[in-house]
Amino acid sequence: MRHFISIADLTREDALAVLATAEHMAQTQSRSIRKLPTLVGTTVVNLFFEDSTRTRISFEAAAKRLSADVINFSAKGSSISKGESLKDTALTLQAMGADAVVVRSASSGAAHLLAHSGWIDQPIINAGDGAHEHPTQAMLDAFTMRRHLRPEDPSADLAGAHVVIVGDVLHSRVARSNVLLLTLLGARVTLVAPPALVPVGASAWPCEISYDLDAALATGPDAVMMLRVQSERMVGGGFFPTAGEYSRRYGLSAARAQTLPDHAIVMHPGPMNRGFEIDGSVADSPRSVIVEQVASGVFVRMAVLYHLLATDAREAPRDH
Ligand code: NCD
Repeated sequence: MRHFISIADLTREDALAVLATAEHMAQTQSRSIRKLPTLVGTTVVNLFFEDSTRTRISFEAAAKRLSADVINFSAKGSSISKGESLKDTALTLQAMGADAVVVRSASSGAAHLLAHSGWIDQPIINAGDGAHEHPTQAMLDAFTMRRHLRPEDPSADLAGAHVVIVGDVLHSRVARSNVLLLTLLGARVTLVAPPALVPVGASAWPCEISYDLDAALATGPDAVMMLRVQSERMVGGGFFPTAGEYSRRYGLSAARAQTLPDHAIVMHPGPMNRGFEIDGSVADSPRSVIVEQVASGVFVRMAVLYHLLATDAREAPRDH
Protein backbone atom coordinates (compact mmCIF):
# COMPACT_ATOMS: atom_id res chain seq x y z
CA MET A 1 0.00 0.00 0.00
CA ARG A 2 1.35 3.39 -0.95
CA HIS A 3 -1.75 5.49 -0.16
CA PHE A 4 -5.00 4.83 1.71
CA ILE A 5 -7.63 6.47 -0.45
CA SER A 6 -10.48 4.08 -0.99
CA ILE A 7 -11.70 0.69 0.22
CA ALA A 8 -12.18 -0.09 -3.48
CA ASP A 9 -8.36 -0.20 -3.79
CA LEU A 10 -7.98 -2.93 -1.17
CA THR A 11 -7.93 -6.68 -1.50
CA ARG A 12 -9.44 -8.84 1.21
CA GLU A 13 -5.87 -9.67 2.29
CA ASP A 14 -4.95 -5.97 2.55
CA ALA A 15 -8.00 -5.33 4.73
CA LEU A 16 -7.28 -8.30 6.98
CA ALA A 17 -3.62 -7.23 7.29
CA VAL A 18 -4.62 -3.74 8.47
CA LEU A 19 -7.12 -5.26 10.93
CA ALA A 20 -4.45 -7.62 12.25
CA THR A 21 -2.01 -4.74 12.76
CA ALA A 22 -4.78 -2.75 14.47
CA GLU A 23 -5.32 -5.70 16.82
CA HIS A 24 -1.60 -5.67 17.59
CA MET A 25 -1.71 -1.88 18.16
CA ALA A 26 -4.66 -2.34 20.52
CA GLN A 27 -2.58 -4.76 22.63
CA THR A 28 0.21 -2.19 22.92
CA GLN A 29 -2.29 0.42 24.12
CA SER A 30 -3.12 -1.48 27.29
CA ARG A 31 0.50 -1.22 28.46
CA SER A 32 1.48 1.38 31.02
CA ILE A 33 3.62 3.22 28.46
CA ARG A 34 1.55 3.54 25.33
CA LYS A 35 3.95 5.42 23.09
CA LEU A 36 5.82 3.30 20.52
CA PRO A 37 9.00 4.58 18.83
CA THR A 38 7.93 3.30 15.38
CA LEU A 39 7.61 6.62 13.54
CA VAL A 40 10.09 8.76 15.46
CA GLY A 41 11.47 11.50 13.19
CA THR A 42 8.53 11.53 10.79
CA THR A 43 5.95 14.28 10.37
CA VAL A 44 2.27 13.62 9.72
CA VAL A 45 0.17 16.55 8.49
CA ASN A 46 -3.56 16.64 9.19
CA LEU A 47 -5.01 18.71 6.35
CA PHE A 48 -8.67 19.36 7.14
CA PHE A 49 -10.76 21.42 4.72
CA GLU A 50 -13.93 20.37 6.56
CA ASP A 51 -15.07 20.27 10.19
CA SER A 52 -14.10 17.27 12.20
CA THR A 53 -13.67 16.48 15.85
CA ARG A 54 -13.13 12.81 16.36
CA THR A 55 -11.44 11.93 13.07
CA ARG A 56 -8.82 14.68 13.35
CA ILE A 57 -8.13 14.00 17.02
CA SER A 58 -8.02 10.28 16.35
CA PHE A 59 -5.40 10.66 13.60
CA GLU A 60 -3.44 13.00 15.86
CA ALA A 61 -3.54 10.53 18.75
CA ALA A 62 -2.58 7.65 16.45
CA ALA A 63 0.41 9.50 14.98
CA LYS A 64 1.59 10.65 18.42
CA ARG A 65 1.29 7.16 19.93
CA LEU A 66 3.71 6.09 17.17
CA SER A 67 6.05 9.01 18.06
CA ALA A 68 5.47 10.97 14.85
CA ASP A 69 5.32 14.76 14.95
CA VAL A 70 1.91 16.14 13.96
CA ILE A 71 1.06 19.39 12.20
CA ASN A 72 -2.63 20.30 12.16
CA PHE A 73 -3.50 22.37 9.12
CA SER A 74 -7.10 23.51 9.22
CA ALA A 75 -7.86 24.98 5.83
CA LYS A 76 -11.58 25.46 6.34
CA GLY A 77 -13.01 28.74 5.12
CA SER A 78 -10.63 29.22 2.22
CA SER A 79 -12.37 30.98 -0.63
CA ILE A 80 -9.78 30.05 -3.23
CA SER A 81 -11.09 27.60 -5.80
CA LYS A 82 -10.52 24.05 -4.56
CA GLY A 83 -8.10 22.92 -7.28
CA GLU A 84 -5.80 25.89 -6.78
CA SER A 85 -5.85 25.84 -3.01
CA LEU A 86 -5.20 22.11 -2.94
CA LYS A 87 -2.24 22.44 -5.29
CA ASP A 88 -0.67 25.34 -3.40
CA THR A 89 -1.21 23.62 -0.09
CA ALA A 90 0.33 20.41 -1.38
CA LEU A 91 3.41 22.24 -2.63
CA THR A 92 3.74 23.95 0.75
CA LEU A 93 3.43 20.68 2.65
CA GLN A 94 5.97 19.02 0.38
CA ALA A 95 8.39 21.91 0.95
CA MET A 96 7.86 21.68 4.73
CA GLY A 97 8.93 18.05 4.76
CA ALA A 98 5.66 16.27 5.49
CA ASP A 99 6.08 12.48 5.43
CA ALA A 100 2.36 11.73 5.10
CA VAL A 101 -0.75 13.82 4.62
CA VAL A 102 -4.14 12.98 6.11
CA VAL A 103 -6.74 14.90 4.12
CA ARG A 104 -10.43 15.63 4.66
CA SER A 105 -12.31 17.60 2.05
CA ALA A 106 -15.87 18.34 1.01
CA SER A 107 -14.84 17.47 -2.56
CA SER A 108 -15.14 13.85 -3.63
CA GLY A 109 -11.83 12.79 -5.15
CA ALA A 110 -9.66 15.32 -3.26
CA ALA A 111 -7.45 12.64 -1.67
CA HIS A 112 -7.10 10.82 -4.99
CA LEU A 113 -6.16 14.07 -6.70
CA LEU A 114 -3.47 14.81 -4.10
CA ALA A 115 -2.07 11.30 -4.36
CA HIS A 116 -1.87 11.27 -8.14
CA SER A 117 -1.26 14.94 -8.98
CA GLY A 118 2.51 14.81 -8.74
CA TRP A 119 2.37 17.88 -6.45
CA ILE A 120 3.44 15.82 -3.47
CA ASP A 121 5.27 12.49 -3.30
CA GLN A 122 4.27 11.35 0.17
CA PRO A 123 1.59 8.84 1.18
CA ILE A 124 -1.92 10.32 1.28
CA ILE A 125 -4.62 9.08 3.65
CA ASN A 126 -8.25 9.86 2.94
CA ALA A 127 -10.03 11.08 6.10
CA GLY A 128 -13.29 11.64 4.19
CA ASP A 129 -13.83 13.09 0.71
CA GLY A 130 -17.28 14.55 0.09
CA ALA A 131 -19.91 11.84 -0.17
CA HIS A 132 -17.37 9.42 -1.67
CA GLU A 133 -15.34 7.45 0.89
CA HIS A 134 -14.13 7.40 4.49
CA PRO A 135 -11.96 4.29 4.46
CA THR A 136 -10.48 4.48 7.98
CA GLN A 137 -14.01 4.84 9.40
CA ALA A 138 -15.04 1.63 7.64
CA MET A 139 -11.93 -0.12 8.96
CA LEU A 140 -12.67 0.93 12.54
CA ASP A 141 -16.27 -0.19 12.14
CA ALA A 142 -15.18 -3.60 10.83
CA PHE A 143 -12.62 -3.85 13.65
CA THR A 144 -15.30 -3.12 16.26
CA MET A 145 -17.77 -5.55 14.67
CA ARG A 146 -15.21 -8.31 14.50
CA ARG A 147 -14.38 -7.95 18.20
CA HIS A 148 -18.05 -8.36 19.12
CA LEU A 149 -19.29 -10.77 16.51
CA ARG A 150 -16.18 -12.98 16.17
CA PRO A 151 -14.62 -12.68 19.66
CA GLU A 152 -13.11 -16.15 19.52
CA ASP A 153 -10.98 -15.43 16.44
CA PRO A 154 -9.10 -12.13 16.06
CA SER A 155 -8.08 -13.03 12.50
CA ALA A 156 -11.60 -13.87 11.26
CA ASP A 157 -13.45 -12.05 8.51
CA LEU A 158 -17.15 -11.19 8.83
CA ALA A 159 -18.53 -13.97 6.63
CA GLY A 160 -22.19 -14.60 7.36
CA ALA A 161 -22.75 -11.44 9.43
CA HIS A 162 -25.72 -9.25 8.49
CA VAL A 163 -25.31 -5.50 8.91
CA VAL A 164 -28.15 -2.99 8.51
CA ILE A 165 -27.04 0.59 7.74
CA VAL A 166 -29.79 3.16 8.27
CA GLY A 167 -30.36 6.79 7.35
CA ASP A 168 -28.84 9.47 5.19
CA VAL A 169 -27.03 7.16 2.77
CA LEU A 170 -27.09 9.82 0.06
CA HIS A 171 -24.59 12.08 1.84
CA SER A 172 -22.69 9.33 3.61
CA ARG A 173 -19.12 8.42 2.72
CA VAL A 174 -19.30 6.16 5.79
CA ALA A 175 -22.05 4.06 4.23
CA ARG A 176 -20.26 3.75 0.89
CA SER A 177 -16.95 2.67 2.45
CA ASN A 178 -18.74 0.27 4.78
CA VAL A 179 -20.69 -1.41 1.98
CA LEU A 180 -17.42 -2.05 0.13
CA LEU A 181 -15.43 -3.25 3.14
CA LEU A 182 -18.13 -5.34 4.80
CA THR A 183 -18.89 -7.19 1.57
CA LEU A 184 -15.16 -7.65 0.94
CA LEU A 185 -15.04 -9.34 4.36
CA GLY A 186 -18.01 -11.59 3.55
CA ALA A 187 -20.83 -9.77 5.37
CA ARG A 188 -24.29 -9.10 3.95
CA VAL A 189 -25.38 -5.46 4.02
CA THR A 190 -28.85 -3.93 3.88
CA LEU A 191 -29.17 -0.18 3.43
CA VAL A 192 -32.34 1.40 4.82
CA ALA A 193 -33.32 4.96 3.90
CA PRO A 194 -36.18 7.09 2.67
CA PRO A 195 -36.21 6.95 -1.15
CA ALA A 196 -34.88 10.52 -1.50
CA LEU A 197 -31.80 9.64 0.59
CA VAL A 198 -30.72 6.66 -1.53
CA PRO A 199 -28.02 7.70 -4.04
CA VAL A 200 -28.69 7.28 -7.73
CA GLY A 201 -26.68 4.22 -8.69
CA ALA A 202 -26.89 2.52 -5.28
CA SER A 203 -28.83 -0.30 -6.92
CA ALA A 204 -25.50 -1.35 -8.46
CA TRP A 205 -23.79 -1.56 -5.04
CA PRO A 206 -23.23 -5.04 -3.60
CA CYS A 207 -26.03 -4.75 -1.02
CA GLU A 208 -29.79 -4.83 -0.57
CA ILE A 209 -31.85 -1.64 -0.31
CA SER A 210 -34.96 -1.26 1.79
CA TYR A 211 -37.26 1.65 2.64
CA ASP A 212 -38.75 -0.13 5.65
CA LEU A 213 -36.71 -0.09 8.87
CA ASP A 214 -39.03 -2.36 10.83
CA ALA A 215 -38.91 -5.00 8.11
CA ALA A 216 -35.09 -4.83 8.02
CA LEU A 217 -34.81 -5.11 11.81
CA ALA A 218 -37.21 -8.08 11.78
CA THR A 219 -34.60 -10.09 9.86
CA GLY A 220 -32.50 -10.19 13.05
CA PRO A 221 -29.30 -8.36 12.01
CA ASP A 222 -26.02 -8.75 13.89
CA ALA A 223 -25.24 -5.04 13.76
CA VAL A 224 -27.27 -1.89 13.10
CA MET A 225 -25.34 1.19 12.03
CA MET A 226 -27.20 4.47 12.29
CA LEU A 227 -26.05 7.36 10.09
CA ARG A 228 -26.23 11.03 10.98
CA VAL A 229 -28.80 13.05 9.07
CA GLN A 230 -26.35 15.46 7.38
CA SER A 231 -28.54 18.57 7.41
CA GLU A 232 -25.61 20.80 6.40
CA ARG A 233 -25.54 19.02 3.02
CA MET A 234 -29.31 19.28 2.46
CA VAL A 235 -29.43 22.68 0.83
CA GLY A 236 -32.96 23.31 -0.44
CA GLY A 237 -34.51 20.64 1.79
CA GLY A 238 -37.27 18.33 0.67
CA PHE A 239 -35.50 15.05 1.46
CA PHE A 240 -38.20 14.02 3.94
CA PRO A 241 -41.46 15.66 5.10
CA THR A 242 -40.54 16.66 8.68
CA ALA A 243 -37.97 15.76 11.32
CA GLY A 244 -40.68 14.06 13.36
CA GLU A 245 -41.78 11.94 10.42
CA TYR A 246 -38.15 10.94 9.71
CA SER A 247 -37.64 9.95 13.34
CA ARG A 248 -40.82 7.90 13.44
CA ARG A 249 -39.98 5.96 10.30
CA TYR A 250 -36.18 5.77 10.37
CA GLY A 251 -35.07 6.57 13.92
CA LEU A 252 -33.71 3.85 16.19
CA SER A 253 -36.15 4.17 19.08
CA ALA A 254 -35.94 2.17 22.32
CA ALA A 255 -38.91 0.08 21.16
CA ARG A 256 -37.18 -0.78 17.88
CA ALA A 257 -33.89 -1.60 19.60
CA GLN A 258 -35.75 -4.06 21.83
CA THR A 259 -36.72 -6.13 18.80
CA LEU A 260 -33.05 -6.85 17.98
CA PRO A 261 -31.41 -10.19 18.77
CA ASP A 262 -29.60 -10.19 22.15
CA HIS A 263 -26.15 -10.27 20.56
CA ALA A 264 -26.81 -7.43 18.06
CA ILE A 265 -24.73 -4.28 18.44
CA VAL A 266 -25.71 -0.68 17.68
CA MET A 267 -23.22 1.65 16.00
CA HIS A 268 -22.97 5.29 14.92
CA PRO A 269 -19.92 7.05 13.44
CA GLY A 270 -20.69 10.27 15.30
CA PRO A 271 -21.49 13.04 15.71
CA MET A 272 -24.97 11.87 16.78
CA ASN A 273 -28.22 13.78 16.63
CA ARG A 274 -29.66 12.25 19.80
CA GLY A 275 -33.43 12.02 19.63
CA PHE A 276 -33.43 12.31 15.84
CA GLU A 277 -31.81 9.33 14.11
CA ILE A 278 -31.12 7.53 17.40
CA ASP A 279 -32.77 7.69 20.79
CA GLY A 280 -30.41 8.77 23.59
CA SER A 281 -31.32 5.72 25.67
CA VAL A 282 -30.30 3.40 22.79
CA ALA A 283 -27.01 5.26 22.28
CA ASP A 284 -26.24 4.74 25.98
CA SER A 285 -27.53 1.16 26.22
CA PRO A 286 -25.31 -1.90 26.77
CA ARG A 287 -25.64 -2.97 23.12
CA SER A 288 -24.26 0.38 21.91
CA VAL A 289 -20.57 0.24 20.90
CA ILE A 290 -20.44 3.89 19.84
CA VAL A 291 -17.77 4.92 22.37
CA GLU A 292 -15.77 1.79 21.58
CA GLN A 293 -15.79 2.78 17.89
CA VAL A 294 -13.87 5.92 18.87
CA ALA A 295 -11.22 3.86 20.69
CA SER A 296 -10.99 1.45 17.73
CA GLY A 297 -10.37 4.45 15.49
CA VAL A 298 -7.03 5.16 17.14
CA PHE A 299 -5.87 1.52 16.77
CA VAL A 300 -6.91 1.36 13.12
CA ARG A 301 -5.27 4.69 12.25
CA MET A 302 -2.07 3.59 14.01
CA ALA A 303 -2.20 0.50 11.80
CA VAL A 304 -2.71 2.50 8.60
CA LEU A 305 0.14 4.88 9.46
CA TYR A 306 2.31 1.88 10.26
CA HIS A 307 1.60 0.19 6.91
CA LEU A 308 2.30 3.38 4.96
CA LEU A 309 5.26 4.79 6.87
CA ALA A 310 7.11 2.25 8.97
CA THR A 311 10.25 1.10 7.20
CA ASP A 312 9.78 -2.54 8.17
CA ALA A 313 6.23 -2.50 6.79
CA ARG A 314 7.37 -0.94 3.52
CA GLU A 315 10.11 -3.43 2.67
CA ALA A 316 7.87 -5.01 0.05
CA PRO A 317 5.70 -2.08 -1.01
CA ARG A 318 2.77 -2.70 -3.29
CA ASP A 319 1.59 0.21 -5.37
CA HIS A 320 -2.17 0.53 -5.85
C1 NCD B 1 -18.62 11.04 9.58
C2 NCD B 1 -18.02 11.88 8.48
O1 NCD B 1 -17.48 12.94 8.73
O2 NCD B 1 -18.12 11.41 7.37
N1 NCD B 1 -18.14 11.27 10.86
C3 NCD B 1 -16.92 10.83 11.26
O3 NCD B 1 -15.97 10.83 10.53
N2 NCD B 1 -16.83 10.36 12.52
C4 NCD B 1 -20.08 10.99 9.52
C5 NCD B 1 -20.84 12.25 9.77
O4 NCD B 1 -20.32 13.36 9.74
O5 NCD B 1 -22.06 12.12 9.99
